[in-house]
Amino acid sequence: MCGIVGYTGSRQALPLVLGGLRRLEYRGYDSAGVAVMDGLGGLRIAKKAGVLANLEGCLESGPDPLTGHTGIGHTRWATHGGPTDRNSHPHTGASGKVAVVHNGIIENFAGLRADLESTGIEMSSDTDTEVVAHLLARAYETGPTAGDLPESMAVVCGKLEGAFTLVAAHADVPSMLVAARRNSPLVVGVGDGEMFVASDVSAFIAHTRQAIELGQDQLVVITPDTAEITSFSNSEPDYQRFYVDWDLAAAEKGGYPTFMEKEIFEQPAAIERTLLGHFDRSGIVLDEQRLDQRELRTVDKVYIVACGTAYHSGLIARYAIENWTRIPVEVELASEFRYRDPVLNGDTLVVAVSQSGETADTLEAVRYARRQGARVLAVCNTNGSQIPRESDAVLYTRAGPEIGVAATKTFLAQVTANYLVGLALAQPRGTRPALQIARDFEVLSQMPATVATTLTLMNPVRELARDLAASKAVLFLGRHVGYPVALEGALKLKELAYMHAEGFAAGELKHGPIALIESGLPVVVTMPSPKFRPVLHAKMLSNIREIQARGARTIVIAEEFDDTVAPFADYLIELPRVPALFQPLVATVPMQVLAAEIARSRGYDIDKPRNLAKSVTVE
Ligand code: F6R
Repeated sequence: MCGIVGYTGSRQALPLVLGGLRRLEYRGYDSAGVAVMDGLGGLRIAKKAGVLANLEGCLESGPDPLTGHTGIGHTRWATHGGPTDRNSHPHTGASGKVAVVHNGIIENFAGLRADLESTGIEMSSDTDTEVVAHLLARAYETGPTAGDLPESMAVVCGKLEGAFTLVAAHADVPSMLVAARRNSPLVVGVGDGEMFVASDVSAFIAHTRQAIELGQDQLVVITPDTAEITSFSNSEPDYQRFYVDWDLAAAEKGGYPTFMEKEIFEQPAAIERTLLGHFDRSGIVLDEQRLDQRELRTVDKVYIVACGTAYHSGLIARYAIENWTRIPVEVELASEFRYRDPVLNGDTLVVAVSQSGETADTLEAVRYARRQGARVLAVCNTNGSQIPRESDAVLYTRAGPEIGVAATKTFLAQVTANYLVGLALAQPRGTRPALQIARDFEVLSQMPATVATTLTLMNPVRELARDLAASKAVLFLGRHVGYPVALEGALKLKELAYMHAEGFAAGELKHGPIALIESGLPVVVTMPSPKFRPVLHAKMLSNIREIQARGARTIVIAEEFDDTVAPFADYLIELPRVPALFQPLVATVPMQVLAAEIARSRGYDIDKPRNLAKSVTVE
């Protein structure tokens, strides 16, 4: 949460910092701010509550431009202190010469703040970040680290508890930025005579593709020609250099009105890339460097831990993994997992699913699992991020950058990757014949084409969405793999359209939720295939009748040629037929389109839903 960026080089810093913030705005959009050093000992700051465009408007209409070759910027998701101008970053120390931007939470900030206030320092915001600015200013002005910004930052970091990425600028050293990280991401962009620091590479890939990912408890000092990395907790700095190989166009809207719509249309490619290279003559290949067949054979329990949409991908995969492997699979919300002391051991495989690779709860679940001796496999979309770094092995989803805050293409990629995990586990155990595994992989390989076909069928869903835009609530029902699809459909609608939405297992209806049904209430039902366990199909038809009898408006998602459903559907959405366990890969698509279109009809920002941020780096 929160996006931060810094630049030092020969070009004007402000446009580069603002350009970086534009790409990082998915991380938070409660306020934005910049600080630019004019090179003459002056530090100029501008900040404004609300989206970045508010700040840009102020800068355009302001009396004079912020000129200078070194600058920092921030786009905020508020934690301590409301989303106001005064709480916007950057924050400054008492002298006004040091400016700091921060992503994360300083957990011991209250004590530090009280200490500072007892020495007469007056705070001008409610944030935890301002405490860092004052501590840094003091360390730079007095004591053993006086006049040394990197050393001052190292000392200050030693006093902080919690999660932080910090970037600091000091007017005395106008061609230098000092950045530090613990539990929040930080990458350096190495340019030609210029350097960047940022929360992620999208902030600078228009300028350089050479990047360095910092490790835990590290500090980097950048000048136009150097990037020096040290550790502030006496450990060996283990950072990673890498080349950003994705196309800049991947982080642009490419003609679509919103990122989310573009990302919905990128789903076939996301599945295809996720599968790439994971099947050869020996069968399914996961992370051959770090996970061998012997280890997979001994797994006797699988936990899938994740949050939000990633959690739903785990719920879907459980049906396939248990079916294929006969290994018990638990799917847990990462925020609950470690607090209930689950029983894990060396034969437990924990699959940590995370698009960002930085979700705080999932990261802590990974750490907990490893402390208990379990093996951890990360399923992740972000190269080199913290969750894969701390896991034993990694399966990258390769969906490309996802800028829309609501997860779409990364969800289908996660479901695909989780299926690969299931097949890879089945392989050495012999619970599914090699030939069948090859067939399953073939089915997955056809999915990009099937999802592409599904996308061509979405116009009626758009019309329906306009019709539903005034509804107060929408319910979603499913059975078997359709149940997590219902949960995902409801989550998408909540987060994008701010509409009350709930997903239920259809069998649970009569245990309470049916009381919610009233005349005209839209209920979206995902039908199981009639060929797969006909009993499930029959029960679902009964459920539809029950809700229709009570006045619900039934919106039924069913596979093509399922003639039995039409009489019970006030609105029928037909999808291509696929094997039952893989149905979520197509059935989720109309849910995504429905939520996006209802949000648009209601006039909401589809890419930046209120109160949310894409990476949840605080618990
Ligand atoms: C919803 C959504 C979130 C994320 C969740 C986990 O559309 O995007 O529910 O799925 O915050 O994020 P990652 O996958 O980055 O760990």
